[in-house]
Amino acid sequence: MTSFDEVADHYGDDSLLDTISNGVTRMGKTTGDLTIEDLAPVDEFHIGGAAATRAFLENLGVEARDHVLDVGCGLGGASRFAAATYGCHVTGIDLTREYVETGIELCRWLGFEDRVRLVHGNAMATDFANATFDKVFLLHVGMNIPDKVALAEEAWRVLRPGGVLGVYDVMRMAGGDLTFPVPWSTTPTTSFVATPGEYRSSLEEAGFMVVEERDRSAAAAQFFADLQGSTSQTEGPPPLGLHVVMGADAPDKVRNMIGHVLDGTLAPVEMIAQKLG
Ligand SMILES: C[S@@+](CC[C@H](N)C(=O)[O-])C[C@H]1O[C@@H](n2cnc3c(N)ncnc32)[C@H](O)[C@@H]1O
Repeated sequence: MTSFDEVADHYGDDSLLDTISNGVTRMGKTTGDLTIEDLAPVDEFHIGGAAATRAFLENLGVEARDHVLDVGCGLGGASRFAAATYGCHVTGIDLTREYVETGIELCRWLGFEDRVRLVHGNAMATDFANATFDKVFLLHVGMNIPDKVALAEEAWRVLRPGGVLGVYDVMRMAGGDLTFPVPWSTTPTTSFVATPGEYRSSLEEAGFMVVEERDRSAAAAQFFADLQGSTSQTEGPPPLGLHVVMGADAPDKVRNMIGHVLDGTLAPVEMIAQKLG
């Protein structure tokens, strides 16, 4: 089994669509009257949820005429958010088959089939032609990818000259062992958290110019409070939330990640980089 198979195994769950469908019913909704806001608690699998996506896409400068690539799109929440907010076309690619299959169904429920296309594949070697996209982004994906230079090179290849890459990942701010599980990995084997300096040098080696970097830890505080509440077993989680994608050990994953952000070992960091050309 490769480390990529292990990553897909970590996230994969064949009952995901049924669980989300049951959650929708428990919310008193049907798939016909559902909104992207209803699904955001479960399909925006990164620190800050939909609010973080909104702020990040503003910084990325997405426009209606853009064709955008969402690398490691998961269930496609950010892809649909980008298409709905900016009117752009989005392609999402993800390693986890169950996420892509579920995400395609969510696009059908919400009527996004003409603007959002989700495909199953590895971000390290995609089938997209050179210079296909105006913008490329990844939200909380690099933590599963050991070779950040190769990841950046593939993003560079599929971006048009002058195109922009946005990264929003959990990065390492201080040394020390991480406590597992965390949301992106059950063990250290599939966790490749890197420092902002390592991201910057990888991006530059691939040919990008880093134009912006911001630590989003402060903005995450309210999200953490809500997340801890929603994954707490005693209070009972809401019908849809990140506990649905994180599984039975969601409270441990959340507690460990929040602990490391609060003690300064990890931070959610945004980077914007331009393909010169
Ligand atoms: C924490 S989830 C984030 C999902 C999504 N970006 C979001 O914010 O909702 C990480 C995602 O990265 C995907 N992923 C990890 N390694 C990948 C790779 N090499 N190629 C494509 N997707 C990958 C996983 O399958 C998973 O869906």
